[in-house]
Amino acid sequence: MKLENKVALVTGSSQGIGQAIAIRLAQEGASVVINYRSHPEGAEETLRRVQEASGKCYMAQCPKVGATIQADLSSVREAQELVRESIEQFGKLDILVNNAGLEKNKDFIDVSEADYDKVLDVNLKGIFFTTQAFVKHLKETNRPGKVINISSVHEELPFPHFTAYCASKGGLKMMMRNLAIELAPLGVTVNNVAPGAIATPINKELLDDKEKLDAVLKNIPLGRLGKPEDVAGLVAFLASADADYTTGATYYVDGGLLWNYQEQ
Ligand code: BGC
Repeated sequence: MKLENKVALVTGSSQGIGQAIAIRLAQEGASVVINYRSHPEGAEETLRRVQEASGKCYMAQCPKVGATIQADLSSVREAQELVRESIEQFGKLDILVNNAGLEKNKDFIDVSEADYDKVLDVNLKGIFFTTQAFVKHLKETNRPGKVINISSVHEELPFPHFTAYCASKGGLKMMMRNLAIELAPLGVTVNNVAPGAIATPINKELLDDKEKLDAVLKNIPLGRLGKPEDVAGLVAFLASADADYTTGATYYVDGGLLWNYQEQ
């Protein structure tokens, strides 16, 4: 087990990639804070699976291996409160996985200010201030830590009709690079994991449309959509001591999608 005695906060872990990450980190021995915004049932399901995965005792009298905490990360106050409450419940945090994110499919000319804010407030501002609160805690307690952002192939690759989303992921790429340098003296590593097309609720529209799905599959050299577990394995590595010398980079989990170009 790679993460014994570590405490991880995984934002947006009531479903999809975040849920798989929470479970995988627990398998590696970490205690996990499961954050959710609007799916308490999903968060409870993650908690149940985290408890199972941890293989530790989880009766009332046993040490806690997981907890669910509600917070809407578009609010700076709620992001700060989430970090504070996690530390209060577990005594510390070692690993932050900034996973919560959303996207909106709209023609550029129809995007409203509210649409734009919704995407940027969670995908960029939320990550900025959650990370800031986490790093303040590490600095105060004089401990190293790991920040892993769940970005997207669309931090590089254009995605027409998803311009606010791409702007947020492109911004996240530069936030990661900047912080990797600025926070290195504190022993904090910062990396991005960039999934391609993974079968999760964010992709529901695509998964329900066979024609669109077939077109996407044609672009994936490995010939299938990714599974949340494909992403979680890489996150577990980046969260572990095996990745202590690894900072400032993006790692793609996309079946080869990003760099695939074929004639005909
Ligand atoms: C998006 C998905 C999309 C995938 C591949 C992800 O970042 O969330 O909607 O299918 O990239 O384009």
